[in-house]
Amino acid sequence: MIPERCKVEQFFGEWDARVEHVACASDVDGLSMRELLQLADPETMALWEGLDLGYTDTLGHPLLREAITEQYARMTAAEITVCGGGAAEAIFLLANVLLEPGDHALVVWPAFESLFRIAPALGATATPIELDAENGWRLDLDAVRQALRPNTRALFVNFPHNPTGALPTRHEFEQLLELAREAGITVVSDEVYRGLEHDPDAMLPAACDVDEQAVSIGVMSKAYGLAGLRVGWLATRNKRITDAARVLKDYTTVCAAAPAEILALIALRAGPRLIERSRRIILSNLPIGESFFTEHSDAFEWAAPKAGPMAFPRLRLPVPVDEFVADLAREKGVLFLPDTIFDMTDNRLRLGLGRSSLPTALERVDDYLASRAVPTGS
Ligand SMILES: Cc1ncc(COP(=O)(O)O)c(C=O)c1O
Repeated sequence: MIPERCKVEQFFGEWDARVEHVACASDVDGLSMRELLQLADPETMALWEGLDLGYTDTLGHPLLREAITEQYARMTAAEITVCGGGAAEAIFLLANVLLEPGDHALVVWPAFESLFRIAPALGATATPIELDAENGWRLDLDAVRQALRPNTRALFVNFPHNPTGALPTRHEFEQLLELAREAGITVVSDEVYRGLEHDPDAMLPAACDVDEQAVSIGVMSKAYGLAGLRVGWLATRNKRITDAARVLKDYTTVCAAAPAEILALIALRAGPRLIERSRRIILSNLPIGESFFTEHSDAFEWAAPKAGPMAFPRLRLPVPVDEFVADLAREKGVLFLPDTIFDMTDNRLRLGLGRSSLPTALERVDDYLASRAVPTGS
């Protein structure tokens, strides 16, 4: 069965080309080809220049898989599967591997759509576990425990979290993994924003390092600013999951694009510099966003994110957020993402902190609010 249409992709399809400032992106400014190639070492430059554009290794280039293991404490290259369709492909493979008709999954909520929209198409059900907005978007472990059913097979989590910027403590995360282990369910940990914690000491361990049944998902899109490569991966010590995902992958992308693999290898070898670049962009935008939204506290309720390139303030104006977003986009060419895309009705909007143009975009929002194109809420 075909899953329900992906609202976020539809939304960007409708608006992306019509606005000047996408102020709600989940990635950071993309790197140019020139910038990336300047980071190549002699070995990767030789690989790039002599690249054979035939099919690649279905599991991923051996050097790329080796470079990916650097993100983990315990993983070997044999336990990494490269996905040529990004993290989106990894999620698709894992949902298909873990869920059958009649099964049940838990999904931390709100969620990136494929984490919950694929389950129903497989004949499974997914129960959302809501993060607590009143409590710094905290994950309630009791809620997870109470939502477990005899047919629960998987728990899909995503920290640092899209769209709230939530990040549990290390202790909370380990307790969550322990709870899943005791319940005999597989944790799929979407870690695509890992490395973008605002306090680097708050970085969580990868789920696949802590628990040999859990799966971690990574990608070049977010922390490295290379979404166009479409290189993602899944990492797990659970051989049954690895084997099944690889069988299925022969029916999706088969192998990643040869140029994308070498470019990803170049980036991973320069990993700390690229992550630092992304963090610099986010951390310079964060105080600007914070002062903008607190200055306009009549119009917005701000909650500081802990990690990642997004925040999720609430619109206080007596206007449905969809209407506010569409009017702002039309009037000022600035795009926010309404929470209705996440099937929410809390009048929130997603702010992207990863684009250097954010300050200019916020100046336009300032003009928009000043022009009283919308009621002031007074
Ligand atoms: C939480 C989460 N997981 C996975 C993805 C998919 O990443 P990609 O499109 O690079 O495959 C995204 C993209 O926004 C995301 O936010």
